[in-house]
Amino acid sequence: MGELLLGQTLGFAANPMTHGPGAARVSARGGVLIEGGMIVAVGEADDLRRAHPSARVTDYGDALISAGFVDAHAHYPQTAIIASWGKRLIDWLQSYTFPEEMRFGDPDYAAEIATRYFDLVLANGTTTVCSYCTIHPESVDAFFTEAARRGLRAYAGKTCMDRDTAPDGLRDTAQSAHDDSARLLSRWHGKDRLSYVITPRFSPTSTPEQLEALGALWARHPDCLMQTHLSEQTDEVAWVKGLYPSARDYLDTYESHGLLGPGAVFGHAIYLEPRERDRLREVDASLVHCPTSNTFIGSGLFDMDGLSRAGHRIGLATDTGGGSSFSMLRTMAAAYEVAQLRGRALHPAELWWLATQGAARSLRADDRIGNLAPGMEADIVAVDLASTPAIAQRAKRAGDIWEAVFPTIMMGDDRAIREVWTGGARVTT
Ligand code: GUN
Ligand code: ZN
Repeated sequence: MGELLLGQTLGFAANPMTHGPGAARVSARGGVLIEGGMIVAVGEADDLRRAHPSARVTDYGDALISAGFVDAHAHYPQTAIIASWGKRLIDWLQSYTFPEEMRFGDPDYAAEIATRYFDLVLANGTTTVCSYCTIHPESVDAFFTEAARRGLRAYAGKTCMDRDTAPDGLRDTAQSAHDDSARLLSRWHGKDRLSYVITPRFSPTSTPEQLEALGALWARHPDCLMQTHLSEQTDEVAWVKGLYPSARDYLDTYESHGLLGPGAVFGHAIYLEPRERDRLREVDASLVHCPTSNTFIGSGLFDMDGLSRAGHRIGLATDTGGGSSFSMLRTMAAAYEVAQLRGRALHPAELWWLATQGAARSLRADDRIGNLAPGMEADIVAVDLASTPAIAQRAKRAGDIWEAVFPTIMMGDDRAIREVWTGGARVTT
């Protein structure tokens, strides 16, 4: 039995950022066999058909079959304020983000937005996200309840903020952040395909006492990830210097409170000092590039070339609603454009890897998701490489798979997503 998906298949035998585009495994007429929620075989369509005559066949023709996209940094509570005009990070948070996040103490509103959010990301071919919630435990319950209902592998945590830099009504305390996080962790971490992530928002909205308390919690649960923001805008870096005068640098505000380690996932990481780069590399912490956010909020240009050459663990993400799109295709396009502005043309294989294996690797989940290979969970997207007239006419001229894929990376959106599978089941809308 099982499900056999046929089409052009794309997986990775290694990291194309370090091994070149030849690390990709492509078949013009390939197949993926799914059984019990897992990928059990990837090969040539004809071979798989012969070997598994009773499997139910879904033939996607020329469409590209890939691992579902992984979005390594997002804020689901910001869904309704995406594309809010005219601000930079600090006033964007104060004008748009914080007022919206205040609404998530209402479990009905949190559930409504969680449902809308997962509808949107799945329509864009994203099968796993790592999200911030709000300070409210209700926002975490809403996220995980919806992810579990849909059988998704998903990551999230209660966003912790106890400093008076956050507004009235949107603050916890060092103690309540610790206790709520601990309770939510024990409720959700390891249930179904869900993982709890310890989530101080960023140093400017936490007291040292809160960072310390969350560092202690992480020390007791080292199998959890810890996510936060690092060096996104120059004004923010200066703010941190003022709030933490004895810290060596921004990273040190986390490091000195037990919040630096291999499972740390730092969003943005644009303005890094040499010591910070060295320490992040040394401990093998993850850096998550959020290119549509960095252009939209006017943050700056992530050093993909330098950091990947130095061996940093790098993922890709939308950072919605600071990011301007739910689509990882649009996010790949922005990553391409940002890298171009720094003199490096990322290969389509590198972009696709960053949106699948790379993002999964930044969440330390690349042994389970983000690749089309036997033993991986069957989270899969079928991508139409001719989804609009403009893309179709360009793809027609393609001489190889990468020339066929690149127009969809640059111009594609949710119209390119033919079908999505999560945990071996077809997603129906
Ligand atoms: N830094 C702290 N909080 C946020 C947020 O919600 N979005 C972005 N882009 N940066 C942040
Ligand atoms: Zn963020």
